[in-house]
Amino acid sequence: MTTDVPLDDLRGTHRRDYDPYGNVPIAEQLDELAKRRDELPVSYSARGNGCWVLTRYDDIASVLRRSNRGFVSFPNDPDGVNSSGSEDGMIPIELDGKRHRGFRAMLDPAFSPQRVASLEGDLRAWANRLIDDWIEDGRCDFGKGFALPFPGVTVMKIMGWPEEDVERLNGWVDVVMHGLPGASEDEANAARAKAHGEVRDYMFALIAERRAAPRRDDVTSAAIDAEVDGKKLSDTELFDLFLLMMLAGLDTVQSVLGQSMVHLAQHPEQWAQLLDEPGRVESAVEEFVRWATPPVPTRTVTQDSVEVGGLTLPKGERVHFPLAVANRDPAHYDNPDEVKLDRFVDSSTKPHVGFGMGPHRCVGVHLARLELRIAYEELRRRLPTFRLDPDQTPQEHLGLAWGVNNVHLVFEPGPRELS
Ligand code: HEM
Repeated sequence: MTTDVPLDDLRGTHRRDYDPYGNVPIAEQLDELAKRRDELPVSYSARGNGCWVLTRYDDIASVLRRSNRGFVSFPNDPDGVNSSGSEDGMIPIELDGKRHRGFRAMLDPAFSPQRVASLEGDLRAWANRLIDDWIEDGRCDFGKGFALPFPGVTVMKIMGWPEEDVERLNGWVDVVMHGLPGASEDEANAARAKAHGEVRDYMFALIAERRAAPRRDDVTSAAIDAEVDGKKLSDTELFDLFLLMMLAGLDTVQSVLGQSMVHLAQHPEQWAQLLDEPGRVESAVEEFVRWATPPVPTRTVTQDSVEVGGLTLPKGERVHFPLAVANRDPAHYDNPDEVKLDRFVDSSTKPHVGFGMGPHRCVGVHLARLELRIAYEELRRRLPTFRLDPDQTPQEHLGLAWGVNNVHLVFEPGPRELS
């Protein structure tokens, strides 16, 4: 372990700049990170506000487990301001300690496996309703026609929001997260601000309505009734929590669905095998979350010094780690860049960190698994074969949630099933 090395020297000897927002394909970013793992597994990038980039599964898992014991999750962004001890972060993903535990105590039962399982029939019907909208056409814009609205409606169902508003909410969330494709930065920022204002007005009206209505068995009622730190949540806190639910629940599932369908279009033999054996689709869900992991968390050191991958880092330093790079570490996965549908049938396979680890582990893990399983089962049933539309090119992006847009599929037209 390196100790007593002045910080500037440590940064200098480990310097290797890194751009989390680079305009490069995901595979290229992963190749660079794999080389980094071999040559300089913990490196310092001076870009932006500066951060340490982790590449080994074990180092990343060790930081995730040390939440509140040397690290905090605010700000969960490599370019955010230095942690000032303020807790103005997004609820609950940028809160730590007791307040964070208060939110999880309310959220975890509302997202329990039993509660999630009760949504299965409704979600399956929704998946088929979405497929019905384009199955007769022999082609679809997979993002707009499935990968975005399906997780959108799933969030609406678990939250207990009116399903008929799903398109409006999805539209706002899409603009808040991605701006406007092809627009200038100023135009995109103006569109983001407008969409944020509209979703805020919508949510404040919904919160007022639900406060006045009888309690229901959904996350909205659980949040309205909850006391965190001995106090009920204000409208603003409820809005922050609800917005995070949409951001966390939509982009991630959309990304895994988009990336996996691009892969499956290029590997029709795997599409054909997806439902062949009992347990294969559950393993495939885990494998696609491992292989296509979207989130890229950041943590800030809060103790005078902490050890990370053999280095001693002082308070205030930021560590940053695409979870995808942990999940592609050959120390734990054979041929990590390959998709093996059966990889997780073997119970000795190392669990992936695609849903995170430690106190911030994904609240929606059971819901995400259910949505992905239903999506693969229903898509496979209704599209026996498909390929990518040769006139369209999927566009990958990096950032704080890696993903792919513009996925268009072509296939043999099929019949609608629901009237
Ligand atoms: C494939 C889909 C998903 C993936 C890969 C995923 C991944 C993650 C990861 C890695 C974290 C931890 C981030 C960190 O430590 O900084 C997280 C947190 C979270 N996720 Fe998910 N997620 C998915 C789907 C969902 C869904 C469907 C919901 C809810 C509708 C959801 C809600 C949340 C929330 C609320 C948190 C914050 C938890 C906390 O800070 O305590 N996620 N997710």
